[in-house]
Amino acid sequence: MIERLNHVAIAVPDLAKATARYRDALGARVSPPQALPEHGVTVVFVELSNAKIELLEALGAASPIAKFIERNPDGGMHHLCFEVDDILTARDALEASGARVLGDGEPKIGAHGKPVLFLHPKDFDGTLIELEQV
Ligand code: CO
Repeated sequence: MIERLNHVAIAVPDLAKATARYRDALGARVSPPQALPEHGVTVVFVELSNAKIELLEALGAASPIAKFIERNPDGGMHHLCFEVDDILTARDALEASGARVLGDGEPKIGAHGKPVLFLHPKDFDGTLIELEQV
């Protein structure tokens, strides 16, 4: 069902500092920051040859990242994103297996303009999972 790892998302307390670490210390290619108010984040994409790292900084008081940083002030891994061919087929199979889909269960348009769903971290060893239809 799942295919490639699309990205690992890291919640960061300071996006400029995190971006500089990936660019300067790790020598990675990084995008300019993009504000995505509908997702409550500002994101920088770190482009690797086989996947992306997304650095997420809270944008706005209702940001899901603000709550995460409250609990994890140094930042930390926020979610993994796996690619799927057909997100509705994947959702139905996962729900049939007992996994919980967050929200109303309907795919939303994610940060890359493609349909995404999130799966409950309690069902996946404490890891929030994003599925993206590519
Ligand atoms: Co993501």
